[in-house]
Amino acid sequence: MSASTPVRPTLPVDILARKGADPLVCLTAYTTPVARLVDLHCDVVLVGDSLGMVLYGLPSTLGVTMEMMIAHGQAVMRGISHAMPVIDMPFGSYEEGPQQAFRNASRLMAETGAPAIKLEGGIHMQETIAFLTARGVPVMAHIGLTPQAVNTLGGYKVVGRDDEAAQVMADAKAVQAAGAFSVVLEKTPQGLSERITQALTIPTIGIGAGVGCDGQILVVDDMLGLFTDFQPKFVKRYATLGQTASGAIADYAAEVRARAFPGPEHGFADVLPAKGAKK
Ligand code: KIV
Repeated sequence: MSASTPVRPTLPVDILARKGADPLVCLTAYTTPVARLVDLHCDVVLVGDSLGMVLYGLPSTLGVTMEMMIAHGQAVMRGISHAMPVIDMPFGSYEEGPQQAFRNASRLMAETGAPAIKLEGGIHMQETIAFLTARGVPVMAHIGLTPQAVNTLGGYKVVGRDDEAAQVMADAKAVQAAGAFSVVLEKTPQGLSERITQALTIPTIGIGAGVGCDGQILVVDDMLGLFTDFQPKFVKRYATLGQTASGAIADYAAEVRARAFPGPEHGFADVLPAKGAKK
């Protein structure tokens, strides 16, 4: 690309066009500095409602609000110039029906500038997804394990083994028929994920769904080793930033206690230095 070629942000149509091509690389981000880091390498940056657990220490995603999603969505948008941002619809913001979903999805898009939203659910969300997509809201669907339904599912379990497989396949076909431009498969068995990927014309993005999907997503704090409350089997830690940060904080504390920090180089002279000298 020449220096003068304008960079166009990635849009839902670009993600759709990647079906069956190189794997889509997706991560979550919740803040501007992390969005800048992931933007360099990712096709999709999800402002996931996982932020409730990762940033706010909530026990599940159920306590996440529209205001939290908007504030973090705005922060992430400030850090993105290449990847496609997607904002999660929080629990309680879309389940009543298509009108409520449109009201809140359009608010997320208008107040953050993000070009797409994600919501959880299969067949029972078909009408809502169709209503949204017909009115200019690109939807990334999310099926299999849907964490907002943890209390009805009975835990964060694999979804789609044995008899459940047909239901998950039906969910996948329903969200595609409703107009979703992609679908997250969470904790679905590898064989089923592959069959869904082959059956659909929209990209599948897996999290704990095996290598046979069109793309992969992880929670960025999990893969960086920053969130260590628990480690799901499907997470690979590419760094141990939590440990590094803990060591750095311990060093700082020791130096402050020993009066080794700050050094003279971190302070300011009593007399203004001569012009041209370092302040
Ligand atoms: O909230 C989230 O981060 C998600 C994922 C798919 C990782 O929904």
